[in-house]
Amino acid sequence: MTPPRPISLTRFLIQEQQAGHINADLRLLIEVVARACKSIATAVGKGALGGVLGDAGTGNIQGEAQKKLDVLSNEILLEANEWGGHLAGLASEEMEHAHPIPNAYPKGNYLLLFDPLDGSSNIDVNVAVGTIFSVLRCPDGVTEPGDAHFLQPGRAQVCAGYTIYGPSTLLVLTVGRGTHAFTLDREQGSFILTRESIRIPEAAQEFAINTSNQRHWHPCVQAYVADLVAGAAGPRGRDFNMRWVASMVADVHRILTRGGVFLYPADRKDLSKPGRLRLMYEANPMAFIVEQAGGAASTGIGPLMDLVPIGLHQRVPVVLGSRDEVAVVERYHRDPAHSPAGCASPAPA
Ligand code: F6P
Repeated sequence: MTPPRPISLTRFLIQEQQAGHINADLRLLIEVVARACKSIATAVGKGALGGVLGDAGTGNIQGEAQKKLDVLSNEILLEANEWGGHLAGLASEEMEHAHPIPNAYPKGNYLLLFDPLDGSSNIDVNVAVGTIFSVLRCPDGVTEPGDAHFLQPGRAQVCAGYTIYGPSTLLVLTVGRGTHAFTLDREQGSFILTRESIRIPEAAQEFAINTSNQRHWHPCVQAYVADLVAGAAGPRGRDFNMRWVASMVADVHRILTRGGVFLYPADRKDLSKPGRLRLMYEANPMAFIVEQAGGAASTGIGPLMDLVPIGLHQRVPVVLGSRDEVAVVERYHRDPAHSPAGCASPAPA
């Protein structure tokens, strides 16, 4: 019997279009992002040979030092998406304001947001990094979208995805009909469907959190992690393993593969920053991907994707992964025994 023919990303998207689930513009948009990610994968893969390691000598809007690959990946995504006619505007974690499509090019009805190279502190040590993206509809009648037009809740996303540049390059995608993974066939230059309708196990065996922040955590997070670490001898009655790559794509990808919970909570380290991760470029797209795989995504006190954004670069507390475990984290946040002042307040802006 002949083995089934591999399904390329192109074929998958055409089938989605033929079934009426996406339109031609969204299909084209996803193809263009995937093509840009292939270029980024090539640059990441060259490492020192490509002269792309190290700092760019510049800072982004968040005041973080940019890596050369942050700048290059941003340029690749911008250049690839500007002229295709499927977008009205773009917003990047690396740019202060939204970037409307210049009038010289045809315009479409979608808005694209991206974190061009997530986890970039890992580049120089050759650990997995990734690109995260999110697609929204441009509000009707808007031809020059500004920052305000991007401030839509995560529930409004029509597509989200990430590419992980690891031992292999994978594109993980949702258009709201499940979460699917495509592996880059480097010889053929195409993404091939390798995991269809991913399901995250409902119960977690592993947790991911940067424990070097422990002294800054609010009491509810202190109590939750203490109970995990207590293992079989503690109130949870079983052992949990801990993993932290410090690259959100890698940590989320592990959870999509074998379950677990990821936390980057708000803490008291710097009260002007309610969490580390960006709502629009990291939290919302990952929340959509995780929910579409049967998982859950929360601020600790409510669903992440219900937040109404107030800033393009807004930071939020993030708890996501196996559904049952996210519910446990929310219970610790609600429990008055763990200091209501610290944990039960709404996610600050
Ligand atoms: O915001 C970028 C990011 O690198 C994420 O990819 C990752 O989860 C997190 O920051 C790592 O944070 P820390 O440096 O505190 O480990």
